[in-house]
Amino acid sequence: MDQITNGHVLILGDGNLSFSLAFVKQHAADGVHFWCTVMESEAELINRYPTSRSNIDYLGAMPNVRLRFETDATRLKLEWFDGQLFEHIIMNFPHPGGKTNLRKCRALLSGIFESIPAVLAPAGRFLLSLAPKQSGLSSPIGSVISSEVPAHNKDSWAVIYLASYSGFLLQFVANFDPRAYPGYTCTGYLSQSKGFHQTGSETMIFTRATVLSASSLTADEQELQYFDQLHPLRPYYLHDVSFWLLNEDADHASLLKHWLVQISGGLVKRLSPLPELQYKCSERNATSVVYRLVWQSHFACLTRECCRDRQNLLRERITVVFSDERVPLELR
Ligand SMILES: C[S@@+](CC[C@H](N)C(=O)[O-])C[C@H]1O[C@@H](n2cnc3c(N)ncnc32)[C@H](O)[C@@H]1O
Repeated sequence: MDQITNGHVLILGDGNLSFSLAFVKQHAADGVHFWCTVMESEAELINRYPTSRSNIDYLGAMPNVRLRFETDATRLKLEWFDGQLFEHIIMNFPHPGGKTNLRKCRALLSGIFESIPAVLAPAGRFLLSLAPKQSGLSSPIGSVISSEVPAHNKDSWAVIYLASYSGFLLQFVANFDPRAYPGYTCTGYLSQSKGFHQTGSETMIFTRATVLSASSLTADEQELQYFDQLHPLRPYYLHDVSFWLLNEDADHASLLKHWLVQISGGLVKRLSPLPELQYKCSERNATSVVYRLVWQSHFACLTRECCRDRQNLLRERITVVFSDERVPLELR
């Protein structure tokens, strides 16, 4: 976790409060104010994690720390924190409890992302740590924009996809090393006071961004500059589209690249022909070609539904533009 030297920090769902204690101690000399919170009541917490008693006492005696119990991270309210917005919100290893169930884990994460804007300062950051493989980001940490389609594992918590619905973009991924917080003992494995495996865990730093709407395909100059450049930390979606070639001699690959990138407002980042699906139709005396489009926004949040609606809008616009501009391709 990177340096925090001032401002207000909210720590959510902190198990036995040992991370809070370690983190607060590290920032004792800085001008940082903390709210340390857990989901459980004080009695439930001490009953579940007996070591939390001394952490509560220590934190409770610190002038720059406020403790709050029964704080559900999916229902955050500004009045719980005396109207204080936070520059930094930290949540480590949230888990709905019990045996891991992907649907419940995703619902918890969605609820957290939906709730956080209520208490996050406009330029604030949300630092979320997850156990290995949960995020679904398989690119190596620190990987950069490239021509490779990122290998996101959708059979995971798919964190960047969930975050996009609430207007959060992932800016940075770092290793989470528990040894950086002396005294921190992770808890909560199967809702008990047992720890869990943390080697290879990741901290993801999210900031706010616009959520794109489906209603228009306005060209975005910044997005247009990144054709064929895919961002490893942004959601992407694949859509196939088929055309009849009206003139076999035309350079249809270049024509499609030019028009689809323009019409999509720069969000079609890549188009690849699928030659295995190409065929000649003798009845029409024309060749059918199929292209796979990779949709991605580098600068705003693109959700699955918005992308699907934009793909439909793109199809409508292609028909009009190709006819007006006499492009020798016909949408199938
Ligand atoms: C695996 S434990 C991790 C605990 C602690 N953050 C740590 O690093 O050791 C999962 C934690 O998520 C918390 N949690 C689950 N749902 C929550 C919610 N809706 N709001 C706040 N915390 C929640 C649980 O109370 C539990 O402490």
